Amino acid sequence: MIRSVVRGTGAALPRRIMKNADFEGMVETSDEWIAQRTGIRQRHIAADDETTASLGEAAARAALDNAGLTPDDIDLIVLATSTPNNTFPATAVDIQNRLGMHHGFAFDLQAVCSGFVYAVTTADLYIRGGLAKRVLVIGSETFSRILDWSDRSTCVLFGDGAGAMVLEAGEGTGSIADRGVLAGSLRSDGTHKDKLFVDGGPSTTGTVGYLRMEGREVFKHAVGMITDVIEATFSAAGITAEDLDWFVPHQANKRIIDASAKKLGIAEQKVVVTVDLHGNTSAASVPLALSVAVADGRIKKGDLVLLEAMGGGFTWGAVLVRW
Ligand code: UT7
Repeated sequence: MIRSVVRGTGAALPRRIMKNADFEGMVETSDEWIAQRTGIRQRHIAADDETTASLGEAAARAALDNAGLTPDDIDLIVLATSTPNNTFPATAVDIQNRLGMHHGFAFDLQAVCSGFVYAVTTADLYIRGGLAKRVLVIGSETFSRILDWSDRSTCVLFGDGAGAMVLEAGEGTGSIADRGVLAGSLRSDGTHKDKLFVDGGPSTTGTVGYLRMEGREVFKHAVGMITDVIEATFSAAGITAEDLDWFVPHQANKRIIDASAKKLGIAEQKVVVTVDLHGNTSAASVPLALSVAVADGRIKKGDLVLLEAMGGGFTWGAVLVRW
């Protein structure tokens, strides 16, 4: 059977780093509050010349280099983002053009922080359905552009960045010993749409709007939702937490990551944490964390890796991949 195998990963971050202490003169907050409640110590913030498209392009080039491929080898680009350069065309098409790629097809996918997990699942279906052989899956965000910088309950939490992965069709036997995407579970439930949203849009206000979040409400649902899709994924693959080599969760809050890992029985040393370095970068958070753990040698060929995310909508999901 066809499996979607990871060929490479890459990342790109804005030049400017903003530390927690840099917020102290802007809103009533402290390095101590941010670090204790979230685990975040710094985040990268895009300059005017750094956009979702430029960061996405840089991450895509890094992933292609890592895979030993060129844009000519790619059939499809799936970009997960909630902060596109323009309302349309899709930023994926902009990235396609920036890469000098004038064949194949490209589209954006919008599932907020769960975007990358949705995008990997989507790319896997295109590959297994025979519509694409090699897919660039990108998560790229510039959440700094939709933050209300006077709202301390949100502005300290998010950052900008991009991560990318190249998936390629490979042969598998259908067992979980195969390399590639093995199982997953996606969910959404719009009854929670007002707990984390942007208060503008083309069809309502005609403006871009600002991010609004009832943080405590999101927190309350997060661990249960995350662990539900992970348990569904474990059961689909016939594995337990002990079989995992690495857990690469969405990087929103260290307390949510720790509580989810604990509830699932995933050992602390198997958890990849980058929320301290990047803050919450929405759809970019999982591929950014992945590329850090691949680059530092933690994630290696043959490892069983679990990706997970939860965000606005609510949307949530998990994907199991053998590297
Ligand atoms: O990526 C999508 C998913 N998003 C998430 O997963 C975010 C989920 N939520 C969270 O991570 C947490 O709820 C937060 C980090 C947003 C907040 O932490 P919390 O422990 O739930 O705090 P809280 O909202 O209950 O607020 C506690 C206090 C409040 O003051 P009072 O009402 O107790 O006087 C807030 O006003 O902390 C105050 N507060 C702050 N204080 C200093 C809120 N933001 C700040 C701040 N600095 N930046």
